[in-house]
Amino acid sequence: MAYELRSARYLAADCLRQVIRPGDTVVDATLGNGHDTLMLAELVGDAGLVIGFDIQEEALRRTEAALAQAGLAARCRLHAVGHQEMAAYVQEPVRAVAFNLGWLPGGDKAVTTHWDTTRAALDAALSLLLPYGVCTVCAYPGHAAGDEERQKLSTYLAALRPQEYNVLHSRFLNAGPGAPECFIVQRMG
Ligand SMILES: C[S@@+](CC[C@H](N)C(=O)[O-])C[C@H]1O[C@@H](n2cnc3c(N)ncnc32)[C@H](O)[C@@H]1O
Repeated sequence: MAYELRSARYLAADCLRQVIRPGDTVVDATLGNGHDTLMLAELVGDAGLVIGFDIQEEALRRTEAALAQAGLAARCRLHAVGHQEMAAYVQEPVRAVAFNLGWLPGGDKAVTTHWDTTRAALDAALSLLLPYGVCTVCAYPGHAAGDEERQKLSTYLAALRPQEYNVLHSRFLNAGPGAPECFIVQRMG
């Protein structure tokens, strides 16, 4: 298939595919409909583990159903818990952590990620990363709260020590100001 420069989520997935190896442990910080969980579960293989978080039971139900249909549930551990609690649930270093901010597509738009908890989760995620592991964050600045979260995220990531992390920010310059953006953080060796 031809390489397609398509969306923030596509850029994040492209990076995750290059970094994750069979047998890895990874985190899906926002389960949602389970699309990312499914991809991560395929990448870690049957010897790997995906640890997932979402605050909505509906997101867990949808993700569990998608995993069961694909026969991948055994390699996933899902928690109906906010990702800000990640450190209590992830005991080993991880190759990757994926965040897809915002609300559950097709769900209640009032239940969305917030900078205070996203920040706490990022603190935990970055300290859990293995050397050369990555944390991907897709942000949705197309509405006021999402724009504020994206700005704070950008400020936070820009302040990370370059001796410890490399940070990449991708956005589609001709797609308008509200277009989703992708941030990738890699822990240095
Ligand atoms: C854009 S969706 C994620 C999409 C998902 N990755 C997929 O592939 O379908 C964002 C999700 O973040 C969840 N969320 C909001 N605050 C959260 C928190 N503090 N911890 C974990 N999940 C949270 C929402 O419930 C929602 O399901």
